[in-house]
Amino acid sequence: MSHQSEHASSLTSEQPSGGMRSHPVFARIYTKVADMAERRGGAEHRRALLAGLTGRVVEVGAGSGANFAHYPTTVDQVVAVEPEPYLRERAQRAAAHAAVPVSVVAGDADRLPGEAGSFEAGVAALVLCTVPDQQRSLAELFRVIRPGGMLRFYEHVIADTSGQARFQRFADATFWPHVAGGCHMARDTKSAIEQAGFEIEDCERFQFSPAAFLPPDPHILGTARRP
Ligand SMILES: C[S@@+](CC[C@H](N)C(=O)[O-])C[C@H]1O[C@@H](n2cnc3c(N)ncnc32)[C@H](O)[C@@H]1O
Repeated sequence: MSHQSEHASSLTSEQPSGGMRSHPVFARIYTKVADMAERRGGAEHRRALLAGLTGRVVEVGAGSGANFAHYPTTVDQVVAVEPEPYLRERAQRAAAHAAVPVSVVAGDADRLPGEAGSFEAGVAALVLCTVPDQQRSLAELFRVIRPGGMLRFYEHVIADTSGQARFQRFADATFWPHVAGGCHMARDTKSAIEQAGFEIEDCERFQFSPAAFLPPDPHILGTARRP
């Protein structure tokens, strides 16, 4: 039995059925961009994101499962929530090859599977840019992560130079979310994590371009503690 199928049936029943939030064109393009990013430094970012995790972990918006190969074997189980059907199917295939058990489930960051405090850690990679309501998604992560547990984050964020931030806000208000599956460039995700009640323990900020045809964007990668 694959890692994916061991737990998926019981978890899926807690979730809305699949088929929602379908972005078929974006999903196919994103899968290719994620592969390119992996070879341009993304793999190291993901390894750093997940290093040292243990126990049960919930990953929100897992996409095509780009993180799965990088989970350390100290993790007992990953519950990976993904609403987009094409990406979820790719993630299910990636789960079958992961070194740790990964259950890919249909669902939404606004309503995560699991009891309060039932996960040792939560993982958000390039997803808090896209969820419709960041505070609601972060409140759900806060609920399901146990007190003392960790939120690991890897996100592109608003620039700290006024010119680039102005462009990012313009893009968010006009075309970008429509062509990029709901993504926003100008979110201040570090502040949002703190507003949700998490305590930032470390946060590295750097420029990263996931593909040669995309300009570098400011990214953050770090750990926040759920008090
Ligand atoms: C840019 S992709 C990142 C995928 C993956 N986390 C990665 O690191 O490659 C954004 C992801 O967020 C997912 N997403 C969008 N809205 C969501 C929501 N409300 N709840 C959970 N995931 C969501 C998308 O389907 C997509 O998989």
